[in-house]
Amino acid sequence: MTVVRMNQNITGPKTSPNIPQIPRGTNDILPQQIPLWIDIEVKARHILATYGYKEIRTPMFEEIGLFKRSLGQTSDVVNKQLLALASGTDKEEGLAPLASLTSFALRPEGTASVVRSYIENSLHKKENLSKLYYLGPMFRGERPQKGRLRQFHQIGVEVIGPDSASPYLDAEVIALNVNMLKSFGLKNFKLVINTLGSLEDKENFSKILRDALRPHLSQLSKESQNRFDRNVFRVLDSKNKADQAVVSHLKLNYDHLSSESRNYFEQMKRALEDLEIPYEQSATLVRGLDYYTHTVYEITSTALGSQDALSAGGRYNNLVEQLGGPAADAVGFALGIERVLLALLALGGSEEENPLGPKAFIVALDQLALNRAFQILHALRGEGVVCDMNYKLASMKSQMRLADKLQAEYVLILGETEYQKGIVAVKNMKTGEQQEIEATEKNINELANVLLMGKV
Ligand code: HAM
Repeated sequence: MTVVRMNQNITGPKTSPNIPQIPRGTNDILPQQIPLWIDIEVKARHILATYGYKEIRTPMFEEIGLFKRSLGQTSDVVNKQLLALASGTDKEEGLAPLASLTSFALRPEGTASVVRSYIENSLHKKENLSKLYYLGPMFRGERPQKGRLRQFHQIGVEVIGPDSASPYLDAEVIALNVNMLKSFGLKNFKLVINTLGSLEDKENFSKILRDALRPHLSQLSKESQNRFDRNVFRVLDSKNKADQAVVSHLKLNYDHLSSESRNYFEQMKRALEDLEIPYEQSATLVRGLDYYTHTVYEITSTALGSQDALSAGGRYNNLVEQLGGPAADAVGFALGIERVLLALLALGGSEEENPLGPKAFIVALDQLALNRAFQILHALRGEGVVCDMNYKLASMKSQMRLADKLQAEYVLILGETEYQKGIVAVKNMKTGEQQEIEATEKNINELANVLLMGKV
């Protein structure tokens, strides 16, 4: 058993300064961790296919303007965390600027890119409802800490199109998110929902909020005082104690919602109840990205510490049009794979079996045998047998030790006698049983068969 730990590269250099260092807030995903990642990806793809989603792949970087226009100029992600690539003004020798006038940034999230692609490729002409998913790295220039990285991986979905304006779809997207987390083996997470209403409702809400907060402005933190003018909603989800004290006394009673928006939210909640998905409602959940309208939600886990969101999402009915596309409503979510892994580890799921060893390991004992072993190795692979060998001569003992370490099921021993007779000695590493089997070009498929069927 190997203990697989999540890297948390948040503290900086671990080796001496003249050895190349991985950037802070990023991780290598090492071979022994890959099975966990693949497991998550396979489970996610399976469930996404069940719900009718198709994969979309967009570039890792986009024009900065795309993020400014969609996530909002005042959002933290745009304001503080965009990782911009070299612009045309960078003249450092040997560096090719990406474009002469436009600047690009690494994508901090997937929604903006998917919407850009939806518009650019006129996906609305192909179907009334595009159910799209993506899976891959995102980049934010954050201060690294546990669960908060500069390069992290999301699995996200976006349902876009004129037919997406249904509270059933909001509920379905949340159900998909919940079922996906369950399929990974997670249990104790909490779903918190809220509604922001339509664009007009949001406008009303910001006026109501400003009026309610104005008398307490001096009690708010500097950051929230800044946000009061630029993005007053964000005062509601401030982590600052003084801000929270002020917010706890506000009477947030959804007065800003039109009756349509209210109905929409009620229907969405009923659909969640029909699907027996427990939720809490919080009037202070507003999300940090500007594009949201109506339903917003977060799924949190106490296993995560202060960065407790496993995933988050909501509806964004105006973004496609705002970016110059056709009238198309939309809803989606994204989950953070590293946070899912942290939560799984906290559940005691930290141990993973070593990936399966090879079916066969070939041990050659002299130069002639080594040549033959190399041919057998490739012939067996051609027959679909996972096998390996030591590519240079070594003692029988050290090669057997290596086979053992790799957890090979069988060892094929090839010494002078076996070479002369055109055979290999096949040893079952579990039972210790040994059998001689012909290993010529003609009957390699028989040898492969014996190994694959476990006949020794
Ligand atoms: P978000 O809340 O910014 O939403 O990110 C979604 C998830 O990505 C978070 O819940 C978290 O698990 C993970 N995540 C975000 N930042 C980091 C980080 N620095 N380090 C590690 N994990 C992180 C969005 O990105 C929206 N695009 C979601 C969406 C899709 N809404 C509608 N459609």
